[in-house]
Amino acid sequence: MDANFGVRIAGTGRAVPDKILTNEDLSHIVDTTDEWITTRSGIKRRHVITDDQKNSDFASEAGRKALEDAGIKAEDLDFIIIATVTGDFIFPSTAVVVQEMLGAKNASAWDMSAACTGWLFAISQAKALLASGAGKTALVIGSEMLTRITNWKDRSTCVLFGDGSGAVVLQACAPEDNGILSTWTRSDGSLIHLLNAPIGGTAVPLTHENLESGLNKITMAGREVFKHAVRNMGQAAIEALIKAGVSASDVDLLIPHQANIRIIDALASRLDFPPEKVYKNIQEYGNTSAASIPIALDEARSKGVAKSGDKILMVAFGGGLTWGSALIQI
Ligand code: COA
Repeated sequence: MDANFGVRIAGTGRAVPDKILTNEDLSHIVDTTDEWITTRSGIKRRHVITDDQKNSDFASEAGRKALEDAGIKAEDLDFIIIATVTGDFIFPSTAVVVQEMLGAKNASAWDMSAACTGWLFAISQAKALLASGAGKTALVIGSEMLTRITNWKDRSTCVLFGDGSGAVVLQACAPEDNGILSTWTRSDGSLIHLLNAPIGGTAVPLTHENLESGLNKITMAGREVFKHAVRNMGQAAIEALIKAGVSASDVDLLIPHQANIRIIDALASRLDFPPEKVYKNIQEYGNTSAASIPIALDEARSKGVAKSGDKILMVAFGGGLTWGSALIQI
């Protein structure tokens, strides 16, 4: 096997639920205020799914829009990868559900589990597959419905999360047209306990007795996670730049995972990025986990903030712990 293709971003798309939950709405659910949530996280509102909606509804809509943007038919997809920890079912994957919804009958489809960094792990995997010649076209979706696993009695976490999906179509291309300049990923399984849903899996199944504990929902040591996030996202950003041989000053836009405005600002300051080069939409969506970067990328393109030819550095961090980065040129 001697193939070594370039890989380019051919299209992007996003889809979020219509229903919006504001900070004011949350103040009627838990003991909190708009002022606390805004100053501690930067979040003003988030989109949330309703009882009759599911992850695949939004993942497929984001995927369909990305295919339209790329001018590619679903039948031409070789791979569909969905980064998610809140899939429709325990099994099978949400990716096979979306495959059927899109009519992508020639694809293989699977889910990627790396929490908030999942979409960057998926991009890294798709790039390797396409560069090797294993296929020509991949749909890479980040799609999370975190409000389904949010503990609405825990004010320190329930104010942070939102739902949504973002997607890109990647295509193998000539090496000189390569648009995925570098990817870099890392994880540390010794820190599982800092951010997880401890029960409800096969290790500790959900029972009538343990249901009330709320431990089948997101639990988080917020301050600890915060520290790791700033440090590890800083490392990930630098690793992607080194791998690509690109200096930070040559990057047009930084799209960090939208977890907390203070994490984003600390990262930007550590990397010496001026505010106008840092994309932020956390105020509108909250933390949408694996969907946050592809939603931001599509939004930045549609607003003209990210333009053709721009170099974009994307960095994420999440449960696992996991962290990673990608430097792209669109
Ligand atoms: N409304 C009002 N008060 C709240 C609150 C809320 N929603 N949530 C927590 N508080 C209170 C706490 O009870 C605590 O009160 P106390 O001092 O009387 O005990 C106080 O606010 C400070 O809590 P603390 O947890 O120290 O706040 P913080 O400044 O660390 O901010 C987070 C909390 C969660 C916003 C912050 O730690 C964070 O963003 N961490 C990273 C989380 C993250 O991004 N995770 C996902 C990674 S992908």
